[in-house]
Amino acid sequence: MSESSASAQPDAQTMFFVNASARRLNTLLAAMASPARYLEVGVETGQTFFEVSAAFKTAVDPKFLFDRETAPRGDSIEYFEIASDNFFCDVRRDFKYDLVFLDGLHTWEQTYRDFCNALLITPERSIILLDDVFPSDVYSCNRDQVEAVMMRQFMTGDPSNAWHGDTYKVIPLIRTFHPLLSYCTIITDGNPQALVWRSPQPSIRSTVLPDVSALNMPELDYLWFLRNQEGYNLMNEKDGLSLAIKALGLGI
Ligand SMILES: C[S@@+](CC[C@H](N)C(=O)[O-])C[C@H]1O[C@@H](n2cnc3c(N)ncnc32)[C@H](O)[C@@H]1O
Repeated sequence: MSESSASAQPDAQTMFFVNASARRLNTLLAAMASPARYLEVGVETGQTFFEVSAAFKTAVDPKFLFDRETAPRGDSIEYFEIASDNFFCDVRRDFKYDLVFLDGLHTWEQTYRDFCNALLITPERSIILLDDVFPSDVYSCNRDQVEAVMMRQFMTGDPSNAWHGDTYKVIPLIRTFHPLLSYCTIITDGNPQALVWRSPQPSIRSTVLPDVSALNMPELDYLWFLRNQEGYNLMNEKDGLSLAIKALGLGI
């Protein structure tokens, strides 16, 4: 953790939102030109989706855990009760999304595919927020959600249901294979999440994270993650959001 990360405190404005994801997304939206378009992949109860104040919102989840009958409706909001692959493949749009939140299935293959697909439907000055890129313990990065929770409870007595899967492997893939993109990982003021945006001045990367160049994904285990956290570009929330907003020249 950097010095600035350690001293980070949420300011009065950011304290307003209870949900860290919604708070970060709304901070980004406030810097974007209006009307902004927002896509959320993996919506569940809508805890974040319904708190996000974008002019146009799209929700994608194979199983929504809220009542569609009583959910907000209108021209500015739409719901697709389908898997992300189906949404990206089958739903054709005549516009692009300014802000995308990826929080669907927590495996690196699915999240990386969602990420690559999201790149196709976002313009130059857009931001993708990735959840679950920073596992909280070794149990959390089990690809099997049920086993992750059971093993933690069995081994430590901790009843937490934290589960991030191996989504953390998407960051080394972005770092290695997407030199046109910039990213940082927010690790304060709520659950860790990565912000990704297109670099206005991309530079050739001279290094890659160990092991990734050989596409040796199974070897990127939790110990690898612990050893390579520097490569996640860790930041406090305020600095991470400001970096992305300034880099894209948003709000100007
Ligand atoms: C952690 S929850 C999302 C939480 C939500 N983003 C929020 O902040 O309140 C993950 C969701 O991903 C959904 N999901 C699982 N596989 C998916 C897929 N292939 N495509 C889209 N969503 C998926 C699950 O149904 C679940 O509702």
